[in-house]
Amino acid sequence: MTEIPVTKASPKELKKKPALGMELGFGKIFTDYLFLMDHDPGQGWHHPRVEPYRPLSLDPAALVLHYGQEVFEGLKAYRWRNGEIYLFRPRMNYERLNRSARRLCMPELDVEFVLEATRQLIRLEKDWVPPAPGTSLYIRPNMIANEAALGVQISKKFLFYIMLGPVGAYYPQGFNPVDIYVTEKYIRAARGGLGEAKTLANYASSLLAQEEAHELGYTQVLWLDAIERKYAEEVGTSNIFFYIDDELVTPPLHGTILPGVTRDSVLHIARSLELKVTERMISLDEVISALESGKLKEVFATGTAAVISPVGKLAPRGKRHIISGGKVGPLSRKLYDHIMGIQYGKIKDPYGWMEKVA
Ligand code: COI
Repeated sequence: MTEIPVTKASPKELKKKPALGMELGFGKIFTDYLFLMDHDPGQGWHHPRVEPYRPLSLDPAALVLHYGQEVFEGLKAYRWRNGEIYLFRPRMNYERLNRSARRLCMPELDVEFVLEATRQLIRLEKDWVPPAPGTSLYIRPNMIANEAALGVQISKKFLFYIMLGPVGAYYPQGFNPVDIYVTEKYIRAARGGLGEAKTLANYASSLLAQEEAHELGYTQVLWLDAIERKYAEEVGTSNIFFYIDDELVTPPLHGTILPGVTRDSVLHIARSLELKVTERMISLDEVISALESGKLKEVFATGTAAVISPVGKLAPRGKRHIISGGKVGPLSRKLYDHIMGIQYGKIKDPYGWMEKVA
């Protein structure tokens, strides 16, 4: 593919790079450039370009600001010890972005084109890919409806952009257990809704439950199904796994759950470790009785941002239960080391998941 045109930032506009260690935290620092591209019915996707990072200019009536036509992704680039930079299963993210776009009546992208745009942007910003263990360059592709109109309608204009930022750990506690509150009051998604799309409404609607959990001293909430308020669905913004007896269980992708790239990777790795892995509905009652009989060995969440988050406390119906002695369980540790090992090139990647960028 041809080179995407770049408008260079003046030396004065270039940011001073912070220390690129774990103290980066998540999502606070952004690099010097953006990739952008526009869409309208006549031209389709057009005018791909790289420009200095800057505020977007939107009409106050832009449809995204009123009716939320937006989809996004989150993926990471990793610097290996030899200095090379790799992406992890990036096609899965762009394919999911297209599925989310279809659900929100937004135009699909050419996966190979946006992947190449991602690579070119990362090469331009390669000095921003942090070298410290556990750090990475977070990539946030975002598509928004930017036609100015106030009737509820499908926008005729869209903007797609990719922003980058160096990140450390998502949770301030790093790879340590998080405490989870089981909410029976709020729901994340119902079948036929938006649950399997990565779109802003899912995150907006999660905030109040998360805030109430914070007030009670918990980091995140466990979402139950919308109809019976009985079956586990997700935790916070991540997928959820339960290790009961010798079975690793995660809820099936039946329309309400985001098909996580880390979720899928954990399923592959766990199967390769010859664990019994099952995608099935799992009720809170089953989790509680496994807790009480001592069969619930571990619970952990999976996502791109936090990778694997062990659950140290689970509080259904106001009762606080300690899981794995409140520590990181051996399976969570093993899966974390395995997936991070592949991402940072420390162990062999038998799946062909890593793609070299620079
Ligand atoms: C993830 O990557 O696990 C997430 O979904 C969190 C992200 C929205 C910041």
